[in-house]
Amino acid sequence: MLYPSHIDIIQGLSRHPASISPKYFYDQRGSELFEEITRVPEYYPTRTEYALMRAHGEDIAQAVRPCATVVELGAGSCEKARTLCQLLQPERFVGVDISADFLREGVARLASAVPGLVTHAVAADITQSVTLPADIPRTGRLVFYPGSSIGNFDPPQAKALLGRMRSLVDADGALLIGVDLRKEVSVLEAAYDDAAGVTAAFNLNVLEHVNRLIGSDFAAEAWEHRAFFNDALSRIEMHLQAREDACVRWPGGRRDFAAGERIHTENSYKYTLPGFSALLASAGFSRAQAWTDDRGWYAMVHARP
Ligand code: AVJ
Repeated sequence: MLYPSHIDIIQGLSRHPASISPKYFYDQRGSELFEEITRVPEYYPTRTEYALMRAHGEDIAQAVRPCATVVELGAGSCEKARTLCQLLQPERFVGVDISADFLREGVARLASAVPGLVTHAVAADITQSVTLPADIPRTGRLVFYPGSSIGNFDPPQAKALLGRMRSLVDADGALLIGVDLRKEVSVLEAAYDDAAGVTAAFNLNVLEHVNRLIGSDFAAEAWEHRAFFNDALSRIEMHLQAREDACVRWPGGRRDFAAGERIHTENSYKYTLPGFSALLASAGFSRAQAWTDDRGWYAMVHARP
């Protein structure tokens, strides 16, 4: 079945160079592979963020309180929200995610783990627009966006997304966001090309997902995982590179790839703290405070209007 929303896949495949949006990584298998990535030794962001929240939880809670409502964007399993809600003791939690069923399960689990917490699940694509139900009070909101997913967006898109977060809160509200920082290239490149090949499997899995979505006939064996740091643009780029000449067909179209040609599948921007503060300010968050790990690899940033 070809859904109108998948026309963007065909457009991306038809472009020169071709691209597939990273949001298509996350089918069932892709979500499992991402979980596995967070456990490979080279992939530091997830465990560094957890360590930061553990080490500075009390300081972060003190800076953020009082907080009536936590709104988590891309909440998924709501696992990170649990720690935060236990720290902050808000009245209300609103989980927003594109995958409605997965979200509802996560929100239900959070509700039973944090007694007394009022919870809502809002199915929405945060890359489009986010409107919360009218019965959620505007005062005392904290938007929570952990995981450094802001890195998937190029600076204009990131500014627009931060602007949507700004419009979700009043002058008394704030944002708590995880940001991956610039560091030695060897560390960055290893994190996106682990020795066990989990990231390679994750990248290649997008072809199986696309095959199901648009009825294409990608043969994953004909493609190779590539990940490298683009220093000028301060981002990790992931691509799939054709091992040999390849022809990909789908109902109503085709694309020929020459050996060595690539499909761009993901960007993961790496910021400096001053650079990220400037981006926040451009979106209406002029006051920012950051907590970083000893190595300066990752930051949790509390930003206020
Ligand atoms: C989920 C977007 C934060 O960019 O590090 C991990 C995704 N891609 N390994 C990231 C990802 C390859 C991840 N984010």
